[in-house]
Amino acid sequence: MNIYAVHLITFSPTRTSKQVGEAIVRGTGLSEITKTDLTLHPAEKLEIPETTLVVVTVPVYGGKVAPLALERMKCIHTSGAPVVLAVVYGNRAYEKALAELDAFISERGFKVIAGATFVGEHSYSTDKNPIAVGRPDADDLRFAENFGAKIRTKIETAAGMDRLYTVDVNRIQRPHQAFFPLFRFLRKVVKLRKSGVPMPRIPAVDVELCNHCGYCATHCPAGAIGKGDECSTDIEKCIRCCACVKGCPQKARTFDTPFAVLLADCFKRQKENRVIL
Ligand SMILES: Cc1cc2nc3c(=O)[nH]c(=O)nc-3n(C[C@H](O)[C@H](O)[C@H](O)COP(=O)(O)O)c2cc1C
Ligand code: SF4
Ligand code: SF4
Repeated sequence: MNIYAVHLITFSPTRTSKQVGEAIVRGTGLSEITKTDLTLHPAEKLEIPETTLVVVTVPVYGGKVAPLALERMKCIHTSGAPVVLAVVYGNRAYEKALAELDAFISERGFKVIAGATFVGEHSYSTDKNPIAVGRPDADDLRFAENFGAKIRTKIETAAGMDRLYTVDVNRIQRPHQAFFPLFRFLRKVVKLRKSGVPMPRIPAVDVELCNHCGYCATHCPAGAIGKGDECSTDIEKCIRCCACVKGCPQKARTFDTPFAVLLADCFKRQKENRVIL
């Protein structure tokens, strides 16, 4: 069977999920491409035709799909369009995120024909505490393109839509995780929690550095920064995605969480991307 159109749906504050999604789409070689970026706005009511391949890529927050991503996909529906799901995580763990995304998307009428877990530079990564810096790198993107090409082949070799088989994303191979670094991480997390060291809930702003360029206000997915009032952050709205931190041209915004120290120390070994199809 043939499919000519592909629709990329992504939520990606620091753009790693978006890069992975775009590479998968490139790999399919399909020329009719639609992109819905939910980073700044929710999807309008969207009914996707059965003849379109959909690629969904979202980040992992706390072992789950970033809640704002799910919130923004609520109005998307189809009656049987094939979908490829990819969760992007910061080299610690994605836990139940892929299974959660599968359940959410299947409920909206999609047919999950492939799944993937990719590593992206951690939102909390800094020069001092690097975590999966630069990922997805060129190899990751090549891997994502190859995955896209395999999806195309899977579709082309299916005798019809009813022969385009679904996958059980729970059967995807987990990346290798050495026991001792994980144990050390868990022990340190318990110690950190007991220590009562306050965890920042919003980025800090250096008012001397900020030149009110407005970048952070226009790129905050949660609307937590007001235009003209860029040195303040609404603590109730902020999702700690670090889009403002990574994008500030003046480096005026920082998110120095002690958690980043632990992540940088315990998850040095780079994890592999995995796919199932
Ligand atoms: C609030 C928050 C929670 C996160 N939780 C996890 C996690 O549980 N495991 C993990 O490996 N990475 C975690 N990350 C890192 C992101 O999954 C990772 O950096 C991802 O590449 C970000 O995607 P984006 O560039 O599309 O925004 C978290 C990031 C944030 C901001
Ligand atoms: S992006 Fe940086 S410099 Fe620009 S307004 Fe925001 S904090 Fe200020
Ligand atoms: S203010 Fe919070 S939600 Fe907005 S971009 Fe910065 S970290 Fe993300």
